[in-house]
Amino acid sequence: MGACFSTRAKVLSSSREGSGNSSSDTSPKKRSSKSSNNPGSFAAKRMLSLPAASDRTSPTLRAFSFADLKAATRNFRSESLLGEGGFGCVYKGFINEQTYLPARPRQGMPVAVKKLNLDGLQGHKEWLTEVHFLGALHHPNLVKLIGFCAEDDHRLLVYEFMQRGSLENHLFRKGTHYQTVSWADRLKIAIDAARGLAFLHDAEQPVIYRDFKASNILLDSYYNAKLSDFGLAKDGPTGENTHVSTRVMGTQGYAAPEYVATGHLTAKNDVYSFGVVLLEILTGLKAFDKSRPLAQQSLVEWTKPYLSDRNRVLLIVDKRIQGQYSQREVQRAADIAQCCLCPDAKYRPTMRDVLRSLETVLFSDDLSMNGDGNTERESSNRQHNSDHMFF
Ligand SMILES: Nc1ncnc2c1ncn2[C@@H]1O[C@H](COP(=O)(O)OP(=O)(O)OP(=O)(O)O)[C@@H](O)[C@H]1O
Ligand SMILES: [Mg+2]
Repeated sequence: MGACFSTRAKVLSSSREGSGNSSSDTSPKKRSSKSSNNPGSFAAKRMLSLPAASDRTSPTLRAFSFADLKAATRNFRSESLLGEGGFGCVYKGFINEQTYLPARPRQGMPVAVKKLNLDGLQGHKEWLTEVHFLGALHHPNLVKLIGFCAEDDHRLLVYEFMQRGSLENHLFRKGTHYQTVSWADRLKIAIDAARGLAFLHDAEQPVIYRDFKASNILLDSYYNAKLSDFGLAKDGPTGENTHVSTRVMGTQGYAAPEYVATGHLTAKNDVYSFGVVLLEILTGLKAFDKSRPLAQQSLVEWTKPYLSDRNRVLLIVDKRIQGQYSQREVQRAADIAQCCLCPDAKYRPTMRDVLRSLETVLFSDDLSMNGDGNTERESSNRQHNSDHMFF
């Protein structure tokens, strides 16, 4: 089994606890570690019965035994390791499509098995939150949760397998395993992700995702994108309330400034994070990177002057996709990113508006002629080649 240690770096700061959140009564802080070791303990039963928000929890979720998931992933061996996040390691496994019992590799259905690292207390709460939300929410742009395992101390989640892994790997990892994602696929991924977020925000009981970032966007073999990781999701404000007060959680570089400052959570926080990811998609650069010079560490701050300049914006486009886009497409995508990143949350668009705008970029007629008699795509490529000195 590959070494797998928690490297959770999500908590930005902790200003306050969530107010009136239904999951607070299942907080791991209220359980002694002894009780959770005992399979028949009250705490373990509470975890299994998925109490809070159970009206939304799907009855179709499968409860797996630990032994079956161990067999499905071939003893969580390192060859089955797909990746590691703050929650723990993710392994590829195979199960029989009808019986859900472990199957031989490449027989049956591939699944991704996420195994909670037992060191982290926060992980238990996130595990439960994920089961609540993903068990209840079904949409083509949300990853499908097939089931879970809550046996003894073990906490695992079983998802549909996404062949191409995360967008983060494709944008930022070097190596032959990860092909550069084309401009057309980047736009499609942005649209799929926007659709997933719009679905959450427009639900009868709106959900704020709170952890929108490139590593939580998973891709299938056709670059269809789905949101994963609902461990930080929250029910949105209802009635007279304008926001939900929370402990500030998220990932550096993606969280909206007003949320980091106040802990007040609204759907507009997700819109900001979407703007950051759109910027990553345009530039091929990470939202936050300590290895860059100080003035360039924050992608949002660094690229701000370029986003507002219709000509200079071409300088920040990922040079690996040169020749694949028109000037107008890039300008429109940059405009959308800029609106999402508006410092004042109330002027940010809704995700439904963002989705509509992105769809017009993808489906617009890009080969219109400009004043020189060239297509926009041609002239943008020339300009890009001569000017690209930014990176
Ligand atoms: N359903 C899945 N199908 C295929 N690969 C997956 C799946 N879920 C996760 N992975 C892989 O496992 C990696 C780790 O995922 P995980 O969500 O645990 O961490 P992360 O998103 O990188 O970090 P964080 O914990 O901060 O969200 C992903 O980057 C991806 O490559
Ligand atoms: Mg993740």
